[in-house]
Amino acid sequence: MLLLNASGCLDALTAPDVARSLDGFVTKTVTPLPREGNTPVRIAETDVGMLNSIGLANPGIDRFLTRNLPQLEKLGLPLWVSVGGFATDDYADICSRLDDEAEVTAIELNVSCPNVDAPTESTSQIVAAARQATRKPLWAKLSPAVPEIGEVARAAQAAGADGLSLVNTLRALKLDRQTLKPALGPGQGGLSGPALKPIALAAVATCFLATGLPIVGMGGVQTGFDVLELIAAGASHVALGTVLFSDPGAPTRVRAELYAAAAEHGWSTPDDAHGVAHREVVVHKDNFLVYEQMNST
Ligand SMILES: Cc1cc2nc3c(=O)[nH]c(=O)nc-3n(C[C@H](O)[C@H](O)[C@H](O)COP(=O)(O)O)c2cc1C
Repeated sequence: MLLLNASGCLDALTAPDVARSLDGFVTKTVTPLPREGNTPVRIAETDVGMLNSIGLANPGIDRFLTRNLPQLEKLGLPLWVSVGGFATDDYADICSRLDDEAEVTAIELNVSCPNVDAPTESTSQIVAAARQATRKPLWAKLSPAVPEIGEVARAAQAAGADGLSLVNTLRALKLDRQTLKPALGPGQGGLSGPALKPIALAAVATCFLATGLPIVGMGGVQTGFDVLELIAAGASHVALGTVLFSDPGAPTRVRAELYAAAAEHGWSTPDDAHGVAHREVVVHKDNFLVYEQMNST
């Protein structure tokens, strides 16, 4: 099980120690051309989480390759590059340029940003084009805002995705208390944080059962138990997002809590919990639950 950051929620170059407390670093989404991002205000708090409308601000793939990547390499961490775009060719071009970069461990295809115009092509067309362009492991990052996420996941799998990242933020709105106008510059934004957790759990469970693909689970993780829940639902790895803004020590804290929560269930490693939400409890033994087809005692 890898503990990662969620794309866009950590700047590893300004906070290298936080990045090094993770098992790998996921970049902010990179697009073909540089992007300033959306009009401020871009972040707002709500009662149940955070709204953002960053709009994929990033240096573009040219500067990313010449300036950011060499600096990120110095972290000595596995690097996952998040790739975005507005057409299938955008994804394919960036993937082919990353293909020869030995220090790039994996590519996450962001096909689900709620803050920019969605690509007109389908997830499966984008994944298929990216698959043609690179031999790197491809993780498709999906939106929970679809009627049947299991079908989207199966389409991504059929098109060549090696894994799934679940979930991206959900489109949401906050109004200013006084003016009753949108709090964010562009109007609506993406909701992240605690409200997303049950939605993320359902998406992970559905896609795990639909595809059996490895999954990076994310959405509202604040504690080690939240991570254990995502693993039980079917996540192989977990990413921390919004929590990193308020608690840069979260990776170390959450990892300690995770191992303690796993031990409370009688597991020596959190990986033993993988998918147990979908198994039958067969016996209670020594105060621990024993699940069908599991070796743990
Ligand atoms: C400020 C901010 C920026 C984000 N930028 C990106 C991004 O560039 N690409 C992406 O795929 N997801 C982006 N996300 C979504 C996160 O990666 C993650 O999917 C989402 O926040 C859910 O996790 P959380 O509830 O733990 O934050 C961003 C989220 C936030 C809060």
